[in-house]
Amino acid sequence: MYLGLDLGTSGLRALLVRDDGSIVASAERSCRVQHPHSGWSEQDPAEWISACAAALEELKSRVPAELSALKGIGLSGHMHGATLLDANNKVLRPCILWNDTRSAAEAAVLDSTAQVRDLSGNIVFPGFTAPKLVWLAKHEPEVYAKVAKVLLPKDYLRFWLTGELYGDMSDAAGTSWLDVGARDWSDTLLDASGMRRDQMPDLVEGSEVAGMLRSALASDWGISGPVSVVGGGGDNAVAACGVGCFNEGDGFVSLGTSGVVLAAKNSFSPKPESAVHTFCHAIPKTWYQMGVILAATDCMNWLSGNLGKSPAELSGLLSDTIQGPGSVQFMPYLSGERTPHNDSHIRGAFLNLDIATSHAELTQAVMEGVGFALRDNYEALKSTGTDLTRVLGIGGGSKSRYWVEMIATLLNIPVDLPEAGDFGAALGAARLAMVGVTGAHPSDIMSRPNVAETIDPRADLTEAYDAAYARYRTLYPTLKALNT
Ligand code: XUL
Repeated sequence: MYLGLDLGTSGLRALLVRDDGSIVASAERSCRVQHPHSGWSEQDPAEWISACAAALEELKSRVPAELSALKGIGLSGHMHGATLLDANNKVLRPCILWNDTRSAAEAAVLDSTAQVRDLSGNIVFPGFTAPKLVWLAKHEPEVYAKVAKVLLPKDYLRFWLTGELYGDMSDAAGTSWLDVGARDWSDTLLDASGMRRDQMPDLVEGSEVAGMLRSALASDWGISGPVSVVGGGGDNAVAACGVGCFNEGDGFVSLGTSGVVLAAKNSFSPKPESAVHTFCHAIPKTWYQMGVILAATDCMNWLSGNLGKSPAELSGLLSDTIQGPGSVQFMPYLSGERTPHNDSHIRGAFLNLDIATSHAELTQAVMEGVGFALRDNYEALKSTGTDLTRVLGIGGGSKSRYWVEMIATLLNIPVDLPEAGDFGAALGAARLAMVGVTGAHPSDIMSRPNVAETIDPRADLTEAYDAAYARYRTLYPTLKALNT
């Protein structure tokens, strides 16, 4: 038995799987996010622990025999968060999360510092970890002075599980302190933000064992044998393990809270100026590139909240197939944007609203705005030399056939929709544990899900959507000029 723990921003999911990869049971607990000031986003690490403990209690009461046979645990976590520990490994303040933009000014300074982009392979985005510590030095110097270790969120969960301080390559790649090509902390990068190597945990690969489950927890959960805890990884890398996406040419489009176009890479070939992220994969000697938009289904959730109809009701207003772009336009920058604009100040807009504009037309416009933003990401990936000829479609938004057909048409590549099942980051985490414990090759464990349906681009409509995308491209500079 293997356990995948997926620490997401809104909660923790624990998934127990058999040695053959089939699912035994899962349990979930939510975690709260605090926004004490505009642009701030924080979480109390104690909630990750209580969510994990409660999820494991539930598994213990539902499937005690299976849980008792546990051999390995893998972890996935939301990236970039700064969990700050003092010399006694006590948490110093709430974790500053990936979607916190308070350190935008510090990020811009670091980003223009010599060698930073070259070594880290990425723009220093405002949500990344390094600028948060520069902000802390200025605004909370008494806390900063006590920082003995900086852990990423899932690594703090590991500390509770094992008592060991470790990080992994894929998550560390999002700190702006890692030499992403060399897969090692960079003294030059650490120095650029006033940090030292001894404040960082030692690093392992995602499938390498990084400690054993503490005996107190093992006995609480009714487990007798030793349980290895592997490195795990950042959420997108581990989700990619869940869908067997780690060979050059493999990729996915994820329509989650945020939106991602991800491509697996067998070499480190960054192009930071494209605002594409280039990170280590959770599998040794592999990397991945991705474009990230900060609001995908979040745009639908926002519309849903304002119109008083659930996202499912809103997508039900549209048919299953696309008929061409609408006249209303939506700019999906509700939380600023990463790829391709790296602009945390930009905000969204509707254009061409009419006295007769309906809820259906607003929904179509929102889905199109997100679709155009994903096309921007796809173009940014192409500009790095990455060529995806088909992608998997994953995430909650991929339940809308209309949305997926629009995205297939906008990217002009087929989108494969997996059969219903569990193949998210929790499965990816469990698979990393299997590789770590058994020594199997990742390709023996990390299969691709069966494809339920392939949605092809609509050749009859590609020209119309291309023209609408070209119009969308002209709007950002205008919006930016109005936004300042
Ligand atoms: C990746 C990123 C998100 C977060 C939250 O760069 O910011 O994937 O990890 O999901």
